[in-house]
Order: sequence, then C-alpha cells, then structure tokens
Amino acid sequence: MTNVFAADPTIAPAWAELASLRDSSRTVTVRDLLDADPARCDKLAVAAAGISLDISRQRVDSHILDALQSLAVQQRVPEHRDAMLAGEHVNTTEDRAVLHTALRLPPGSSLITGGRDVAADVAEVLGRMSSWAQDVRTGEWRGSTGERITDIVNIGIGGSDLGPAMAYLALRHYSDRAINCHFVSNVDPTDLTEVLRPLDPATTLFIIASKTFTTQETMTNASAARDWLVGAHGEAAVSRHFVAVSTNSELVTAFGIDLANMFGFWDWVGGRYSMESAIGLSTMVAIGPEHFRSMLDGFHAMDVHFATADPSENLPVLMGLVAVWNRDFLDIPTTAVLPYSQYLSRFPAYLQQLTMESNGKGVRADGSPSSCPTGAIVWGEPGTNGQHSFYQLLHQGMSTVACDVIAVARTPNPLGRQQDMLVANALAQASVLARGRTADEVRADGTPEELVAHKVMPGNRPTSVLMIEELNPYTLGALVALYEHSVFVQGAVWGINSFDQWGVELGKKVALGILDAIETGRPTAISDPASARSIERYLALR
Ligand code: F6P
Repeated sequence: MTNVFAADPTIAPAWAELASLRDSSRTVTVRDLLDADPARCDKLAVAAAGISLDISRQRVDSHILDALQSLAVQQRVPEHRDAMLAGEHVNTTEDRAVLHTALRLPPGSSLITGGRDVAADVAEVLGRMSSWAQDVRTGEWRGSTGERITDIVNIGIGGSDLGPAMAYLALRHYSDRAINCHFVSNVDPTDLTEVLRPLDPATTLFIIASKTFTTQETMTNASAARDWLVGAHGEAAVSRHFVAVSTNSELVTAFGIDLANMFGFWDWVGGRYSMESAIGLSTMVAIGPEHFRSMLDGFHAMDVHFATADPSENLPVLMGLVAVWNRDFLDIPTTAVLPYSQYLSRFPAYLQQLTMESNGKGVRADGSPSSCPTGAIVWGEPGTNGQHSFYQLLHQGMSTVACDVIAVARTPNPLGRQQDMLVANALAQASVLARGRTADEVRADGTPEELVAHKVMPGNRPTSVLMIEELNPYTLGALVALYEHSVFVQGAVWGINSFDQWGVELGKKVALGILDAIETGRPTAISDPASARSIERYLALR
C-alpha cells in the first residue's frame, strides 16, 4: 500500500534539529524558562472558540517550537489536513474518507465527495433527528401504552457510547430534567440489569447505537433489552420503544426496528469521531436541537480555526506538536488529562478512545514499522479528586507524566467560594507541576533537615493549561474538536493512519472461540494451553 503521507519523520531534517535542541537544552527547566522571559506567558498562550491554551509550562522555547513547525511542514501536515477536509481517502487501510468535519458544517453548506453532497445528507439526518428528539421532549412521541418517555437507554460501546455518555454529563446543565439518559455498554450482565432495575418499560425508550450493528456487546444487550420490553408489553411495543443509530440498514431491519426509526450515518464517520452524528441522538434529546446545533457550531469554529489559523497560533497544531515533542524527544510515554470540572468527569475516558485507538500504532500507513514512539498513554480523573489519589506520583514519582490541566472560568452552579477554590487548585497544581520546589526553598520554610529530601518537588513536569470561558454546548464542541485535530496532527507527523483500529479485532475473534469452548464444555478445543487451563478453572468455579 503506498501512501504519500507515510514518510518516516525521523529522516526529516527537522527531526535531527529537534534532537540536537533537546540535547542542548537538557539542563534547562520549565522554571528557568518561565523566569528568564516574563513575556513567555503571553507569547505561549493562544485562544480560539472560547478556549485558551497556555503552553508556557511546557519544556519548549522558540527554537524548539520553530523546529516542530518545520517538522510539520516536512511531514506535509497541512496537505494531509486539506486532503482529509476535502474527503480524500486518508483512511487508506479501509479505503475511506474521514469527514467528521462535514457533520458540523453550517446549515446550507455543500461538500461534494464521491459524487454526493455529504453536507446535504448530514442536514437531512439532522432534520429527522431534530423533529424526533423534539417529539420525545414534548411528549408527542409516546410509549406503546400512551405514556410519556421518561428514560432513554443508549445501548452502544466505544465510540457509540463514550461520546454520548461524556456529553450527557458535560451538558447536564442544559438538559431537560424530565428525561433521564442512561448508558449501557458492557456485556457484563450487571450493566444492563442495574440500569433497567428501576425503570418502567412503559416509559423507557432504547437507542441501539452501533455503526456496524454487529458489535457483540451491543447486539447482546439490545436483544436482552428487547426481551425485557416484549415480556412486559408484547412484540407490538417494539416500534414505540426502540430506535436505531447505524450505517447498516439491513441488520437494523433484521433486528426488528422499522427503518423509519433508524437514524443513519456513513462509513466516513469513525466511531470515535461520531458523537455529533446521529450517535449523538441521546445528547439531542437531552439538550434539545438548538443546543445541539450550538455544539456543532463549536466543533465547526475549531475546524475553521484548525484549517485557517497561522500554525504559530493554531491550538490543535501547537497541542499536537507539543505532544510529539514530549513523546519522542523528552521520552514521556504518558499524558494525564485533569479536568477541573465535575461536568467533564468522563472526558478523560472519552479521550482515551479518541487518542489511543487513533494513535496507538506501531506501523506507519504504508505498513512499515514506525521508527519512533507514537501515541502516548492517556488517562485522568477530574480535579480536585485526583489530587487526593495519584498526584503524589505526578509530583514526585520516577516517571514524568505530561499533564493537561483543564479549567473552566464560569460555573452555572455558584456556591460560596467553591468555584474560586476549584480554579485555585487547578492553577496551584499547574504551578507545582511546572516549577516544583527546591531544597533551599524547602529549608527556608523551616523544614527539619531529615525531611528536606522528602519535600523537594522536582517540578519540570510539562503541563498545558486549557481555560474554557464557560462549559456549554458550543465550547464542548470546540474542546472535542481541539483534541481531535491535535490527534490528527500527531498521527500526520508520525505518518500513521489515525483512523483505523486493526488492533482491536483479534481479541474479538479469539473471544468467540473461547466462548464456544465454554459453552460446549471443551477447553481443549483451544490450542493456547494457558487459555485452556483458565477455561477449565472458570468452568469449575462458575
Ligand atoms: O472495537 C472497537 C470499535 O470498533 C470502535 O472503534 C467503535 O467505536 C466500537 O467498536 C463500536 O462499534 P460499533 O459502533 O460498530 O458498534
């Protein structure tokens, strides 16, 4: 497979320059950089679409940033971006366009690709979603017994779960409190059982969200949910209590869902890039079509910024290039995402799929092995909770973790001093992570000598601070698009295909063989002896 975008970044001239800049700046700390240039904090802060990004606490200077920008040019990141936005098949291993940006084009847009106006297709589905969501919200759409819908259960997994689940929490302030959304993803029977336990089938509506409509967990949970409903209200109830979101109309029909109740999307929407497609149907019911449109507008504002802003002021470009610097030159394998917002508590989980399913790859798009480390391990928890858990390692552990601290300036829930306390904690952590505390400073606090070493904070942890004006549908869209495009920039620099996910397939296949061995009681049918022994143990214990 040939791919002009799969060039090895380590042979780009800028790579050698960056390696030499890394070597010559080894002893320069973030504290040194901050103290040497009072203007740094203004120079290294950029803003777009209600979000500011401050990279002044990263271990970069202007030479490093220039060389990173050269690397992006040498790796043809702008050409790759334009190819993606134009609908070229940049997902080469699946021979697909990658057009999630088309999902959030303004109303009335047109984007012709493959002979179709995909923007018109998007508008048509959005229109159907809006009128259906509005019907559910107003009570026009009722269950089979004539009662109003009070609970929506989204059954999906991966991209068909994480985005809607994250957005439902993030935009709770904007949601209709008369309708509760629930998210079932795990094939663990406990997930569905516990969600359904308090619910009434007469007032519950299921959204079966699956791009392929073949995913084992989703289809198994969907069947069980169907049995639950049919057991209470009979087959005839299915059409009032089940809708589908999928690209696979044949399997949706086979499941028994009327195509009138199916909301489609397209193979050019990757699962982890789909929360603003019909996969966001539960989000739309929760927040209403107008707020959903505002979310799309926020996505689009960041898309336009990514496509047009000068690279030196381009948030996704800077964020992506800093990530490459941290991963490949500072040898930092992991990034903690630390949102100081309870509303963003599922954002790290959402980003794990977005980033790690996209860039957790060891071969470039042409199949050749990557000669440099690629996607970082991403994880996190909201602040301030994480401070009382894993921050000890962030501050004094032997592994350096890069951090994204996300703060929100305005809260819809003012309560005494709490919002200021929250932001103060976010900024304090960013400061300590970046600057640390020297032995002399610890001594100056009057610390007994035997404790000095324990209280020294190395600092020098590369940290970005994102400040969101207010968390609303618009800025949430912009925030997600920022990370999407940062992931894109990283993948483009590394020459990998950020839009396939072959690494998840084998496990699914092996699970089917093991399930068969379990169900037929024949562990020895499995050739892997460790698995066969584990199956025996399981059969003996279950
Ligand atoms: O197994 C990984 C994956 O393919 C993800 O990429 C995707 O988001 C998820 O499974 C769910 O897939 P589907 O929407 O087809 O059920």
